[in-house]
Amino acid sequence: MAESSFAQYAWKRLMHHVERVDLLLQRHYHQRAFVVWTGDVLLAPDEIEQRIGNLSGAPAWMDFDDRANARESVVDAVATVLADEPFGYLTTRFGLNAFERDVILLGLLPHMDSRYQTLLSLLQGRGQHFPTIELALRLFCANWEDRQKAQSNFLPEAPLSAYQLIQPVSSAALTRDGWGRMPLLTSLEVWHFLLGNRYQAPALDRFCRWLSLDANAASTPGVAALQSVLRRAVFEAVTPSVVTLRDARETDVVHALATFGHGALALDLARLPTEDEDALQMLRQALRNARLHRCAVLVKSLDEVGKARPALLEPLARCLSEIHIPTICVADSHSPVTRLPGAAQVVFDPPAMTSVERARALDRYLDDPRIDTVGLSRRFSFHPDELAAIRQEVLFYRYQRAPDGCVEACDWTQALRYRARQNFGNLAQRIEPRRTLNDLIASPELRQQLDEISAAIRFREELLELGFADKVHYGTGISALFYGPSGTGKTMAAEAMAKGMRTDLIKVDLSSVVNKYVGETEKNLARIFDMAQADAGVLFFDEADALFGKRSQVKDAQDRHANIEVSYLLQRLEEFPGLVILATNNRGHMDEGFIRRFTFVTRFAFPDATLRELMWKAIWPAQIEVDEQIDFAQLAARIEVTGASIRNIAMLAGWLAKSERAPRVMMRHIEQACARELAKVGRLQI
Ligand SMILES: Nc1ncnc2c1ncn2[C@@H]1O[C@H](COP(=O)(O)OP(=O)(O)OP(=O)(O)O)[C@@H](O)[C@H]1O
Ligand SMILES: [Mg+2]
Repeated sequence: MAESSFAQYAWKRLMHHVERVDLLLQRHYHQRAFVVWTGDVLLAPDEIEQRIGNLSGAPAWMDFDDRANARESVVDAVATVLADEPFGYLTTRFGLNAFERDVILLGLLPHMDSRYQTLLSLLQGRGQHFPTIELALRLFCANWEDRQKAQSNFLPEAPLSAYQLIQPVSSAALTRDGWGRMPLLTSLEVWHFLLGNRYQAPALDRFCRWLSLDANAASTPGVAALQSVLRRAVFEAVTPSVVTLRDARETDVVHALATFGHGALALDLARLPTEDEDALQMLRQALRNARLHRCAVLVKSLDEVGKARPALLEPLARCLSEIHIPTICVADSHSPVTRLPGAAQVVFDPPAMTSVERARALDRYLDDPRIDTVGLSRRFSFHPDELAAIRQEVLFYRYQRAPDGCVEACDWTQALRYRARQNFGNLAQRIEPRRTLNDLIASPELRQQLDEISAAIRFREELLELGFADKVHYGTGISALFYGPSGTGKTMAAEAMAKGMRTDLIKVDLSSVVNKYVGETEKNLARIFDMAQADAGVLFFDEADALFGKRSQVKDAQDRHANIEVSYLLQRLEEFPGLVILATNNRGHMDEGFIRRFTFVTRFAFPDATLRELMWKAIWPAQIEVDEQIDFAQLAARIEVTGASIRNIAMLAGWLAKSERAPRVMMRHIEQACARELAKVGRLQI
């Protein structure tokens, strides 16, 4: 049914039910109108005398009610509630009886028309313009006995209160006014629900969010797996379990839930009010809404609450089990699962999409065989749901590059790359690589090792897909340790690797990540790895010795903690799907046990004369003229410096030549610059 016609239908059906309650109320008014209110209780003096001599076994007002109310006919004619009208849903979702439904209708009247409020205060006196328990009992119960039984519908554990279908009343008001005068106002959420709308109290917006089913989102192999887990653990289980999904996509979960006719409401527990009492109250409301709209709840940040507010876990678990909502906790795969006390809780890791599956999805969006979709899917982590938006971005980049051209692979690379870029704040610096491995002057051994790393990263995914993932289980990430003296090109090599992979270099200075506060370092590392995982960049840790000090030297608690951090880092290194490079100037400071864990350990040696000569020759940009007489072989043999120093000397020599307005860089400029550089690094020129 279209939305507007459903709303019309809902409204019509609701009015149908309201008519009956309205009639009952009006009749009650007329029965009252001819009696002064005291007439309810007070008898005329002679009547009192007569009764005292002949007790009836119940107070007179009870008789009065029974005599006056011949309303069975109406009560029995409770209008049929259809299964497909909101009232029908309300009835089945909360297990309501006919009396409870009528109370809800009665409690709607003040929302519907303010004239009811006037009428109600006239009938009930004491400024009570909402219906009360007393009124409900009078209207909907045929006799005293029924009324007595119906009282139990107002107990805190009965649906009306337990699910807050009627607005809760403070206990102060209850003691002041008494039970019978407790006002019955139907909650706004229910009122809107009956009208065919979805309403959520604004106070809940901070931590609750309805998740909608995106019809365009492609369903992925993960959805099928989720469906079978949900079927077995929740929807067809005798006693449903809480399901913890690790690293699951929200859209996939929403898809899977939809097949069971359930929507999804996301609850971010980290955003609950700080007062436990308020937090639980809000949670109850949110869960009621979920049940009202037949949603499962997707609980987020359970892990954080478990750490920061452990006392909240138990009442939270109780709420969930009392309100009976399919509960799915979403967590990441790196932290242990936080458990809800008393609940059966199963853990499931949805299968990650392989790059071939993602490439297949990508193929649907571009029909250009020249574009290597498998390659793109390996390099970038995107979800098929995002492809429609990504294609729009691709068209924009194509237009910017060549307004009349066709879409090329570079447009896709650009869109995917921008999309993948995460904001690392001050934890890391993003470097867009410019230089390639060919710019790095390296010994044949070094070059071979760097090529091996490139090959490993290129074929890693393929090997994993061919079954290596099961054979080696973990430790499938590729990590490299670059060690060697300062200025030998470690950072430059990392940049070149990123360039080769056509991604960015994400440079983390470990000395700034290591924090003296216990647990902070780990948190920083977790954030870096989480973001890097979404980013396609090469993760580069400089100054690795800041964290990888020798393990044997544990002296105090601080060191012990550092060890925990190191094991955490190693764990994340091993699981990281891309390339991680660590650099250190001093391999001697690193624990050999750690060094063994890297996939590659690459030495950047101090360059020999041959390499230095190549560097001297390669360092000059085309626009700068250099004296042809200069003997770089001789210079390289004479001055023992690193590539970094050669770069510095060349730059300084260029400035010196410019300041002299010399037409070209001469040997004397280089000599002078050498003297400066060597003095800087604390050595004398020979
Ligand atoms: N082998 C090399 N080939 C070409 N250029 C080099 C080489 N080594 C160093 N350079 C030049 O020196 C600059 C600085 O080197 P780089 O920062 O990569 O050294 P590093 O080993 O990371 O030093 P540190 O340990 O101090 O961080 C490079 O950007 C590059 O211009
Ligand atoms: Mg460096």
